[in-house]
Amino acid sequence: MFSEQVNENNGPPMLAVILFLVLKFVILAPKKQSIIVTTLSSSMGTSPSPPPTTATTTQQLGSINVGSMNQARQGHTGTLLTNGKMLVTRGGNYVALHSAELYDPSTGTWTTTGSMKHQRRGQHTAVLLTNGKVLVTGGHNIEGVLNSTELYDPSKGTWTSTNDMHSKRMEHTASLLTNGKVLVTGGGTFSGFFRSAELYDPLTGTWTTTGSMNIQRTKHTASVLTNGKVLVAGGENTNDFLNSAELYDLSTGTWITNGSMNNQQEEHIASVLTNGKVLGTGEWSNVSVV
Ligand SMILES: *[C@@H]1O[C@H](CO)[C@@H](O)[C@H](O)[C@H]1NC(C)=O
Ligand SMILES: *[C@@H]1O[C@H](CO)[C@@H](O)[C@H](O)[C@H]1NC(C)=O
Ligand SMILES: *[C@@H]1O[C@H](CO)[C@@H](O)[C@H](O)[C@H]1NC(C)=O
Repeated sequence: MFSEQVNENNGPPMLAVILFLVLKFVILAPKKQSIIVTTLSSSMGTSPSPPPTTATTTQQLGSINVGSMNQARQGHTGTLLTNGKMLVTRGGNYVALHSAELYDPSTGTWTTTGSMKHQRRGQHTAVLLTNGKVLVTGGHNIEGVLNSTELYDPSKGTWTSTNDMHSKRMEHTASLLTNGKVLVTGGGTFSGFFRSAELYDPLTGTWTTTGSMNIQRTKHTASVLTNGKVLVAGGENTNDFLNSAELYDLSTGTWITNGSMNNQQEEHIASVLTNGKVLGTGEWSNVSVV
């Protein structure tokens, strides 16, 4: 969702940041649990990219048009912290970066914060845990695709390494589950894509494998539904752009195929509505989840 110019205070990327923040605030506002916007995966320079999509999310306040995402390229992440600031971990086309910055919406200012342990060029994920820390996983740098993960502590502004994932992954998803664990799904390396999924337990700092998706997916979305299940949709793999969706049940650790989108979507935003339906960007039709 962010271009590499995201930290500059001018130009379209700033608009993207603001729109992202608007969406994130909608998500986290306690009384408006209508929308969850999951990771927007970023496309690799070498991969086919569909035309920009326009995301329109509808919720209780009316509608927000988040405009064209024609700058969506390299893998920054933006994570809204419990203190109201947004943590941005840097990616970049040519230089792999350790750096991370904080955006304070109340002042509109950016400040640098502690550097990540590992350089991450992009295609990593960042997810806010229930303890207020942020878990960053995978991505890639000059050495290749990463299995490393690390935690950001907003109270100290520091990063600490935590255990490696079982697989090196980029362009995967990471979702905070209702039980406090993080589900990482799919993604891949430069040589292939994964069906596999794994769970991070913040209490033990360990990764365990869980059921694999039915098909390999990279650049997909994962949405935590109001019933706690996780809907994974779209993306691509070696064979195709994907229009299928599947559902992860955290009580059993298994996946079922569930519904499909009208059009293949490699990069999209998925939003969970209060009526239990999931709204996708572009020409994605509703996927009803029971
Ligand atoms: C993660 O990757 C590094 C570098 O390739 C490797 O040395 C390490 O064993 C891997 N960790 C796991 C848990 O597979
Ligand atoms: C999705 O899952 C629900 C609940 O298991 C089931 O009733 C429904 O038929 C499934 N939809 C599709 C399209 O598979
Ligand atoms: C999606 O759901 C909304 C609200 O239920 C409905 O108005 C709209 O027609 C649906 N779109 C499609 C493509 O089914």
